[in-house]
Amino acid sequence: MPSRLTLDYNNMLASRLDGRGIRPERLDAVADRFRSIHAAIERRREGGTAPAFFELPKQREYVDRIRDFAEGVGQAFDTVIVLGIGGSALGTLALQQALLRPFWNELDDEARDYFPRLYVLDNIDPTTVGPLLDRLDLRRTLVNVVSKSGTTAETMAQFMVVRDRLIRILGDGYRTHIIFTTDPSTGVLRRLAEEESIPALSVPPGVGGRFSVMSAVGLLPAALAGVDIDAILYGATSMDERCRTADLTDNPAGLFAALQYLADTEADARVHVMMPYSDRLHGVADWYRQLWAESLGKRHDRAGRDVFRGPTPVKALGATDQHSQVQLYMEGPFDKTVTFLSPGAPATDVEIPAAYPAIDALSYLAGHTLGELLAAEHRATASALARAGRMNMTIDFGTLNAESIGQAFMMFQIATIYAGELYEVDPLDQPGVELGKRLTYGLMGRKGHEPPAIESPDPRFTCT
Ligand code: PA5
Repeated sequence: MPSRLTLDYNNMLASRLDGRGIRPERLDAVADRFRSIHAAIERRREGGTAPAFFELPKQREYVDRIRDFAEGVGQAFDTVIVLGIGGSALGTLALQQALLRPFWNELDDEARDYFPRLYVLDNIDPTTVGPLLDRLDLRRTLVNVVSKSGTTAETMAQFMVVRDRLIRILGDGYRTHIIFTTDPSTGVLRRLAEEESIPALSVPPGVGGRFSVMSAVGLLPAALAGVDIDAILYGATSMDERCRTADLTDNPAGLFAALQYLADTEADARVHVMMPYSDRLHGVADWYRQLWAESLGKRHDRAGRDVFRGPTPVKALGATDQHSQVQLYMEGPFDKTVTFLSPGAPATDVEIPAAYPAIDALSYLAGHTLGELLAAEHRATASALARAGRMNMTIDFGTLNAESIGQAFMMFQIATIYAGELYEVDPLDQPGVELGKRLTYGLMGRKGHEPPAIESPDPRFTCT
């Protein structure tokens, strides 16, 4: 079913929030600034210097390679494990949660249409990695090692562990159970692909980790599990087209970026909560959290000045977090915006039976569905927050499917680029993670890295 994302931002505006929230003249002012930001990005797109993710949906040769592998060799396996972290895992997790049948890995072969089970190992916690590898039949497993740089410590460590286990079981045949997704020319994985004859798909040049979900990074695991990747790309393209307008009120990514930016910089709302009323969209909130945080949290502005900018993205889940977070959102500091994600009508619904007609506290639920209750709770929470003067907006997916997920990915990615321009920071780098990496190298004894002088805890300030 065709779908079109909508953004209802009434509850962000001062007119709805008793004077709190964003005043129309401020939005108009940002709309003017947005025109020149938009024009500059359009010029970069024409000149081929815009962020490369914009062009991903059009790069058919990459998509054909992904599909060929997924529909051919890839279907020889019962299970796929993705090894990756950050931008090399979160998009896949979001796609898995949104588009595969719930409890996918627990379904039998027939219920999965004979597509493989899909596990994403995005951490190096040995208490997860070890037991999962012990449990799976590695003879029937494909391992997709995903790392743009081809050097990330966590992913390389996982790869070395899994490769060793594969070699012990399969000998030289291990290489047919691995596929890399990595840079087309640089990095250790690319070298190993050549030296060990391991197949490898490319992340196109210029596509950074958190903007790579629509490359082989996200699309290969999705295609392996039978997701219609063309529909994702179609949705992304249609959102991109909607965002070609410089008119802020018609540009969903522009509006989202401008509202969040104004809320942060002019209304002290530095915390940006993303709260889907859908289990299936929880992964999208997690993916967005990385995108927004790593792209906008920056010490330096574009001119190199210390600015220490960046909103703090938080994920929540409706209705679950009504019983955990909403008290804070309603009555705590006025430092938040809440963006609700509404999935539209659920694909399947569950009716609440008329079990206790004489008990008022239960009988009103009878005859409704769980989907109706969830949707009512979303509307009620949005309205309650607005009545309490709390900024919130709703992105409605219309129908939650591959097309609308593609729209959402594209919308948030473009919004992040616009927000980078509004905040005047580079949304594509992440220099702040380098020091921790170097210290880790030192602690782990990597050549050329001195063990760092990390002070031992002072017992006076340690509660034992
Ligand atoms: O967005 C980013 O660039 C990061 O989160 C990376 O995706 C993450 O660090 C993993 O990097 P790589 O894909 O090079 O292993």
